[in-house]
Amino acid sequence: MVLSKEHLVSFSITFLLCFNLVNSQILGPILSPILPPILSPLVPDLLNFLDQRLAIVFPIIQAFKNTITSDPLGITLTWVGPNICNYKGFYCDNPPDNLSATTVASIDFNGFQLSAPSLDDFIDQLPDLALFHANSNNFSGTISPKIASLKYLYELDLSNNLLSGTFPSSILNMPTLSFLDIRYNLFTGTVPQQIFIKELSAIFLNNNNFLLTLPNNIGETTASYLTFANNKFTGSIPSTIGKASSTLLEVLLLNNQLTGCLPYEIGFLKNLQLFDAGNNLLTGPLPFSLGCLKKVEQLNFARNMLYGQVPEVVCSLGNLENLTLSYNYFNRVGPLCRKLIKSGVLDVKKNCIFDLPDQRPMEDCVKFYAVPRTCLGSGSFTVIPCQLPMKPRGGNKRRLLSYSALERKRVDL
Ligand SMILES: *[C@@H]1O[C@H](CO)[C@@H](O)[C@H](O)[C@H]1NC(C)=O
Ligand SMILES: *[C@@H]1O[C@H](CO)[C@@H](O)[C@H](O)[C@H]1NC(C)=O
Ligand SMILES: *[C@@H]1O[C@H](CO)[C@@H](O)[C@H](O)[C@H]1NC(C)=O
Repeated sequence: MVLSKEHLVSFSITFLLCFNLVNSQILGPILSPILPPILSPLVPDLLNFLDQRLAIVFPIIQAFKNTITSDPLGITLTWVGPNICNYKGFYCDNPPDNLSATTVASIDFNGFQLSAPSLDDFIDQLPDLALFHANSNNFSGTISPKIASLKYLYELDLSNNLLSGTFPSSILNMPTLSFLDIRYNLFTGTVPQQIFIKELSAIFLNNNNFLLTLPNNIGETTASYLTFANNKFTGSIPSTIGKASSTLLEVLLLNNQLTGCLPYEIGFLKNLQLFDAGNNLLTGPLPFSLGCLKKVEQLNFARNMLYGQVPEVVCSLGNLENLTLSYNYFNRVGPLCRKLIKSGVLDVKKNCIFDLPDQRPMEDCVKFYAVPRTCLGSGSFTVIPCQLPMKPRGGNKRRLLSYSALERKRVDL
């Protein structure tokens, strides 16, 4: 092939520009004056990008790269040249609006340990992004409202970073968002109630400083996973939670400041496998309706102020592997529950069951029971809203997932 004059010119300009980019600090001042200013917008074309869309995001990525203050694994050493699809952490695909185009469709920075003061003007400027995963980096700053412009964003995982500010409410306007994981950050302020009317499959908010009085629309959620542990949530668990009966699988409310009595409607959550409300300020008895949670494997209500009897129907649940009720004020357990204590499934230490070992001091129990306590709708506590199987036995077991959200590493659905 004979190179045309045009080719040669273009080639030498490309070379000059590449050289200039690499050595901008040394040669920049010398070369810049001899390059006509009109050429700078042509940089992407000259670098031979696979697609115009990649040319457009090239300067965005390079600008972000320049803000990175720590890259102990040398990730950004691969972020050079026009071949963005080969950069570590970047993945290309055909965008839905033009299947013959190629674009940056997903970013997976999980575990890269990058530090940058902000993600602003980076992710919000990658218009075709469908996935952004950045678990375990040191990204700080706040989340810009501009993120709402990402019309294909489906999974957003910013977990285990140093992000701050208020809940990124702009995500509520993202039509395609399904997976939201912002746990282990420094977010503060309230969580908007609208989160429960957004069609999400998973909401991981644990280990922040979020405030929320659990709203009545909690049961509108389409999510299977709600992990709200280790925040400052208050209020009682709304009875409307029962509306999420077909979708909710795992609920983590531990280590908050929830008050009130457990609603009988928790028993409607027929697919529930994990419910953990340990270490809150809950009171009242355990509703018998919990005996309807046929798939439940883990129930934790430790370190609350629950009292009364441990319902035998709960102890006869066929899939139950761990029922933790320690540090409450329960005072009675029947024979089925005693079996579970023996087999190590039920933990009732530090309660008020005096024929069992390791209970509270008698005077603590006397003091507790001297105060009159009632729950609204207390008549419902012995209602069992389901048919109990004659001989309960488990179905197909699924791997429980939410407890891994209490560690910093990434969670795979
Ligand atoms: C689709 O993308 C290809 C490759 O970038 C481009 O050549 C074409 O013009 C685009 N089509 C439309 C309708 O934008
Ligand atoms: C990330 O931040 C944490 C806490 O500020 C610090 O201990 C750690 O060294 C940082 N890691 C990197 C790679 O900068
Ligand atoms: C049961 O669950 C409690 C609360 O989550 C936990 O502390 C305990 O280690 C678990 N017990 C077993 C045997 O897994």
